[in-house]
Amino acid sequence: MKLFIKKSITHLMAASQETEKTLKRTLGVGSLIALGIGAIIGAGIFVRTAAAAGEHAGPAVTISFLIAAAGCALAGLCYAEFASMIPIAGSAYTYSYATMGELIAWIIGWDLVLEYALGAATVSIGWSQYFNNFLETFFHTHVPFALSHSPFEISTTTTGMYAAELGTHGIINLPAIFILFLLSLLLIRGTAESAAVNNVIVIVKVAIVLMIIGLGWHFINPANHVPYMIPADAGTVKTNTGIVNYADTFNHGWLGVLRGASVVFFAFIGFDAVSTAAQEAKNPQKDMPKGILISLAFCTILYILFSHVLTGLAPYKDFLVQGKEASVTYAIKTFMHGYTWLSSLVTIAILAGFSSVILVMLLGQTRVFYTMSTDGLIPPIFAKLHPKYRTPYKSQWFFFAFVSIFAGFIPDSVVGEMVSIGTLFAFVLVCLGIMILRKTDPGLVRPFKTPIYYIVCPLGALICLSMMASEGLENWLRLIIWLLIGFVIYFGYSIKRSHVRLGITDIPESDKNNKFID
Ligand code: ALA
Repeated sequence: MKLFIKKSITHLMAASQETEKTLKRTLGVGSLIALGIGAIIGAGIFVRTAAAAGEHAGPAVTISFLIAAAGCALAGLCYAEFASMIPIAGSAYTYSYATMGELIAWIIGWDLVLEYALGAATVSIGWSQYFNNFLETFFHTHVPFALSHSPFEISTTTTGMYAAELGTHGIINLPAIFILFLLSLLLIRGTAESAAVNNVIVIVKVAIVLMIIGLGWHFINPANHVPYMIPADAGTVKTNTGIVNYADTFNHGWLGVLRGASVVFFAFIGFDAVSTAAQEAKNPQKDMPKGILISLAFCTILYILFSHVLTGLAPYKDFLVQGKEASVTYAIKTFMHGYTWLSSLVTIAILAGFSSVILVMLLGQTRVFYTMSTDGLIPPIFAKLHPKYRTPYKSQWFFFAFVSIFAGFIPDSVVGEMVSIGTLFAFVLVCLGIMILRKTDPGLVRPFKTPIYYIVCPLGALICLSMMASEGLENWLRLIIWLLIGFVIYFGYSIKRSHVRLGITDIPESDKNNKFID
């Protein structure tokens, strides 16, 4: 049995010519960078940063950002090589099918569910918390704790809007499900996010981050930065989900910083979304690597400055109890006197910004499954298009239900860490894939070549692996169980129906009429 059977690149390019008739090459390097930043800045910086600082890294979360950025930059170089080699709309799944074979492609495609679907869930949980902030700020009301938190959470907050609900158990996170519902509906109606709309959202998001950095800088209390790393004897903190003990291996010192890196890694996820726009890029070979790497570098600088300010405003332990998912507005309201207007602005901008990230993730998810379905690896229902809107509506509804289960009933810390470990795993495979391909297929045309690949590829894989290693046994078990489920489906279903195996190289007429239209 040929587990590593490959999809022909010629066929892929031919199939892409078909869509090319409907897609215009309009995106220059500027728009590609904006697209990257649009998908990158979201709950990672506005929610997960405070969680990483509060639980694992303290003020040294800035170093966590550097480590995560290094892993992403090295993986990003490998991504750029892949994307320039096969400049068609796709993802790591498509690239690996053509270069490393079906089994690896399956693993990556299946693993991407953790990145995209659970990524959407994580961001929607953050959205829910900021939505409550919005209601409280502008209408002096909020969704009760029980209806805006998962059953694994108990309110421990003694101040702020949940003060009267101390000790309440969560039941379901309704606002998170609500935003997923709205955006799924939007995607089904085919409301494509145009580059222009995205540019506006990007400007707003970046402006907000810059304002927090600029205005917050004067309110930094140097005492909050001392000691820079969490000491082992920092004690314990009671949070919504349990007790955090700083004496635990990954909750203090350098190992805490490493674990913090795997948490804030979430903030970088999305730069690979640039590669999905390859067919709309004016000059994909040159501009895509630039789009990926420049958006990554830009966000890294913003993130480090932002986290320096945030941990300077409030003591890191506050983020576990008072601020929770809406830590940024908490820090502004509590420690930046006279800037309540900024926290209101931040809330609105975050709601818009998070929505665009969720939209891209839900879109990316159904797009990957659409391709896998047209390849025969998963049931045809995932490629079924709406008769009028021409969008994969059944798949969209399926993922609305799937993502809602996580968004509604699991805390963001758990879902967020599953996203990180899943995406890190995909990055490890991409780094190793490029290294192996250089040896096995040195003749492939590579418009962009990863520099000193014999260092970049193994180092990228190593940094990503060490972040994964810090994730703890529970997360590894979740990843392994997810992959095992994937293998059962692959060997039980996909292998018998794979179009490449069955020799179906042409796009069937029915599929042509059934094409995914953005
Ligand atoms: N990087 C994206 C975010 O932080 C996923 O929301």
